[in-house]
Amino acid sequence: MTDTTPAPGSVALITGGTGGFGRALARKLRALGVTVVLTDLDGERNRQVADDLGCEFVPLDVTDRAANRAVVAEIEERHGRLDAAYLNAGISAAKSDDVLDMDEFMKVVNVDLFGVVYGVEAARPAIKRAGGGAIVVTASLAGLSPMATDPGYSVAKGGAIAFVRSMAPRLAAEGTTITAICPGFADTAIIDRIRDQFQQAGFPVLSAEEVADAMVMAWTSGQPGAAYVIQPGVGTVPYKFKGVPSAKTASGETAVVPEALRPPSMR
Ligand SMILES: NC(=O)c1ccc[n+]([C@@H]2O[C@H](COP(=O)([O-])OP(=O)(O)OC[C@H]3O[C@@H](n4cnc5c(N)ncnc54)[C@H](O)[C@@H]3O)[C@@H](O)[C@H]2O)c1
Repeated sequence: MTDTTPAPGSVALITGGTGGFGRALARKLRALGVTVVLTDLDGERNRQVADDLGCEFVPLDVTDRAANRAVVAEIEERHGRLDAAYLNAGISAAKSDDVLDMDEFMKVVNVDLFGVVYGVEAARPAIKRAGGGAIVVTASLAGLSPMATDPGYSVAKGGAIAFVRSMAPRLAAEGTTITAICPGFADTAIIDRIRDQFQQAGFPVLSAEEVADAMVMAWTSGQPGAAYVIQPGVGTVPYKFKGVPSAKTASGETAVVPEALRPPSMR
């Protein structure tokens, strides 16, 4: 993908769309002429937010697999196509103590990891029917660097990044670029509980607009399987994965990976 703006007439879906990143992204996409469908948990406030942004609102709890498919079908029926899916809904643990609260852990993993998997499953065929496009997953820096205060969040975001990288070749083969966005701390409702501490420590946080710029870039010029790190004072940079040591044959040469370990599109 080399274009720097979405094609005219494009349609995008944003999950968790009435939150901080979702709103900033919706504004930017609307300014580029994109039809934006905001999805989020149902509620008067969320419907109003979408209305104020000039976006359609469709209720979606991303942990409901069938509902993800139904929303995509509704978008295709109403707008004739889906070009980009921003799988952005996310939560963090409600408290951070030393107890490993399994209910909390599973709740976070269900939204932040399985919500992404269901979203990809639902959006993939529609984007393919539109001739290809983009899936942009909002992961987090916590998926690349352990978050000691919220292990479930790190597991979910790390899993989402691994999922993006694993799905990238087969999606690229059908014209869809999947990428992960990995912001550091940003000024949205998700940091409400700890915002004071950032201020007291003089620790810089990102604005939602900076992150939304990276999300637009990921659609228009993202590379398949890339994980884009966004940090205050650094900007947006593709994370360089170190890789793992290759297996060696008995004679010490790098072993060739058997065909069965490559997806059909790469054989
Ligand atoms: N703000 C940060 O510091 C930061 C940093 C890195 C990554 N992120 C990630 O960015 C994404 C957006 O978060 P944000 O910062 O805009 O926070 P936010 O709390 O403003 O927005 C999150 C949105 O997700 C929605 N949501 C929660 N559970 C849902 C569910 N089950 N189904 C559908 N929607 C659901 C919420 O209603 C909310 O609108 C999240 O995935 C978050 O983990 C945030």
